[in-house]
Amino acid sequence: MIRGNGFILRPLRISDSGGYWETMQDKETIKGLMSVPYSFEKAKKEIKEDIKEMKEKGSEYFTIVVKGKYAGYVVLQYQNWDRKSSEGRMHICIHPDFRGKGLATKVWKEILKYGFSKKKLEKVFAQCKASNKAMIKVIKNCGFKKVKTHKVEGIKKILWVKKK
Ligand SMILES: CC(C)(COP(=O)(O)OP(=O)(O)OC[C@H]1O[C@@H](n2cnc3c(N)ncnc32)[C@H](O)[C@@H]1OP(=O)(O)O)[C@@H](O)C(=O)NCCC(=O)NCCS
Repeated sequence: MIRGNGFILRPLRISDSGGYWETMQDKETIKGLMSVPYSFEKAKKEIKEDIKEMKEKGSEYFTIVVKGKYAGYVVLQYQNWDRKSSEGRMHICIHPDFRGKGLATKVWKEILKYGFSKKKLEKVFAQCKASNKAMIKVIKNCGFKKVKTHKVEGIKKILWVKKK
């Protein structure tokens, strides 16, 4: 568990399915992500797969908890799911009720510290849609540098990197 300023990060659980499903139904989430689950059952299945990935691939899926409530998730994975890699990548999604309060920026800074110290990573990558203004701000706030702009499945995306 990681304690931050005004939030807790704890490992993902099946009981997070409700908060996750609520977040996935939001318009801004649908715009920001490449795909979202289409039903609660599908959302729950994805969470089960994520928990399996944590055990098998060393990925870290954290639920963000604010005042006891589900406030989103943050993920830190090894590049190519290789536990020996010194490179990682990060993803984040904030529940609509908790956006616009600086939470994503604070959580990402905390996860970067964790990745560079506890996980001994040297580099962390992030990727977002070129249209995702809020996410670009979060990424810049955390000191990432642009690697390239490219198309993924026909969508313009920006790849970023942060070195230790
Ligand atoms: C992107 C996202 C994670 C940002 O979370 P957040 O907690 O609201 O972010 P913060 O409060 O730390 O805001 C970061 C900055 O973005 C700005 N911002 C927030 N929403 C914005 C919007 N809709 N348009 C433009 N800027 C916005 C904030 O003002 C802040 O700017 P500042 O640092 O200059 O003060 C959240 O909107 C989200 O979960 N979106 C849907 C999923 C998604 O797109 N995930 C990223 C996939 S790569």
